[in-house]
Amino acid sequence: MARFRLVIVANRAYADHDTPQGATPEGTAAGGLVAVLRPAAGEGAAWVGAGRGRYDRERVDASGEEWIRTPYGDLRHRRLFFADEEWRGFYELASNAFLWPLLHLVRPFPRLTTYFPQPLTPTREVWSAYRRANEAYAEAAASMDAERAWVHDYQLGLVPRMLRGAGYRGAIGFFLHTPFPDWEVAQEFLDAQGRACFAEWLHGLLAADLVGVQSSADARRLLRAAAVLADAREAEGGLRAEGRFVAVEAHPVGPDATAVEEPARTVADPRWLAELRAVGLPLVVGLERGDYTKGIPERLRAVASLLHRGRRFIHVGAEAPTRVSVPGYEALAAVLDDAAAAAARAAADVGLPFEERREALPWEDVVALLRAADVLVAASLADGMNLVPLQTVLAQGMRPVEARAVLVVGADTGTAAAYGPEFAGRGLVVVDPLDDEALADAIGAALEGLPGRISDAFAQAVRRRDARAWASRYLERLEALHARD
Ligand code: G6P
Repeated sequence: MARFRLVIVANRAYADHDTPQGATPEGTAAGGLVAVLRPAAGEGAAWVGAGRGRYDRERVDASGEEWIRTPYGDLRHRRLFFADEEWRGFYELASNAFLWPLLHLVRPFPRLTTYFPQPLTPTREVWSAYRRANEAYAEAAASMDAERAWVHDYQLGLVPRMLRGAGYRGAIGFFLHTPFPDWEVAQEFLDAQGRACFAEWLHGLLAADLVGVQSSADARRLLRAAAVLADAREAEGGLRAEGRFVAVEAHPVGPDATAVEEPARTVADPRWLAELRAVGLPLVVGLERGDYTKGIPERLRAVASLLHRGRRFIHVGAEAPTRVSVPGYEALAAVLDDAAAAAARAAADVGLPFEERREALPWEDVVALLRAADVLVAASLADGMNLVPLQTVLAQGMRPVEARAVLVVGADTGTAAAYGPEFAGRGLVVVDPLDDEALADAIGAALEGLPGRISDAFAQAVRRRDARAWASRYLERLEALHARD
C-alpha cells in the first residue's frame, strides 16, 4: 500500500517558517495557490515545496521532511532547498521573468501598456536550472510514495513528464493556476529559443492524465497551442499526443470558505480601517499582490478621475510586495508610484482621506477590509481566477443585502468567466480594465449600488464551488481517468 493518498507538488510550500516559533500566519503574500490548496492538504496527504522560510532548515529532518499540523489533519511536508544561483535561474528568470508574463498574454499587453514586460527569453544556463529544479521536484514527489501526484503551476511544467519517465505508476494531475496565453498573440513576443522553451514546457505537462485550467477559454487556447507546438490532435475532452489521450478540462478554483466566513463573523476592524470608516463615506477597495498583471495603475487612474469629477468616496488599496528581485517588476513600481501620487493628490484636493498600503496585511485585516468594501475593484488585465472578489462575496454575508458591495472585475479573469454568465448585473460588473472611461464609469455606478449588489444566491454559488469542492471534483476526475488507462 502506498504511504500517502496524495502528494501535492507545488513550488510554494504549505507554509514558510519565518519565525522561530511557528509558521507565518495565513496572509495574502503567498497568493491564491496555497489558499486554494489548503483544504486538500490534510490527513493522508504529503506536500513537496521549496524551503524559502528563514527557519525552514531547522524544522526538517535529514530527508527534508516534517509534520505540519493543519486544520484538516497532519500533513507530511518535504522541502527542497536551492542554492542562490539555482533559484535565480529556476524561479526568478525562467519561471517569473519568462513564463509568468508569457502565460498572461491573452492580449498583447506589452504593446497595450507602458509597463507590462515582454517575456525574457531564458539563456541555456537559465533553462538548464529550470530543468534541474523540475527534476528535483519530480524525484522528491516520486519518493513520497503516494497513490497520485498533483503537480501545480507553471514553475513545475516539466514535472509530469519527468515523473512518468521515472516510471511513476500513480495518477498524474497537473493544474495551471494562471491563464493560458493566446498562441497567436504570444508568438509575437518570442524568439526561436523562447519558442523552444515554451514548447518543451507544454510537452512536459501533456504527460499528465489530466491537465486542469481555470476556464474553458484557457482550455481552448491550450488545445490550439498544443496543435502547433506539440503536434497534438484535439480529441473529445482533451487531446491526443504521442499516442496518448490527455484530458484538458476547466476546473475553476474557489476560495477556502471557512477561512473567510469564520473570521468575517468575529474579527474587529484594525484601527486604521475603523478610522476611515468613521468618515462615513463609501469605500472603494483594491487588494492584490503588487504584480503587473493586476491592473493596479488602471484602478488608481480611474479613482483619480472619479475624484476629479466630484465623486466622494475613500479609496483603500493594499498591494502585497511580490517578486521584488525579478526582472520586469521595476517598471511597474515607477508607474504605480506616479499613479498613487496622482490619486492621492486628487483626494487631498477635495479634502478626502486616501489609503494606499504597500504591505501584506495580516489575514484578519484582509477579511475585515473585504467585509467593509462598498466597491471591490479587481481590474486584473488577465488572471487565472483572482480570488479576492470571491472572498469578498463570502466576507459580506453578515451585511444586509441592500448594503452589500458591488464587484468590478476585469473581463479576462477566471472570476468573470466563472461567474459572469450567472451574476453579471447581480453583484458583478465585468469591464475591460484598459478602457479608462469604462472602468471609471463602472466604479462610479458601483458607488450607487448599480447594477446590483452581491446577492445571497451569489454567495451560495461561491460556497458551492469553494476550494474543497474544487479539489474533490478535480481529484475524482483524475481518478476516473487513470482507472480508464
Ligand atoms: C499566486 C499566483 C500563482 C503562483 C503563486 C506563487 O498564487 O497566482 O500562479 O504560483 O502566486 O508565486 P510566488 O512567486 O509568490 O511563489
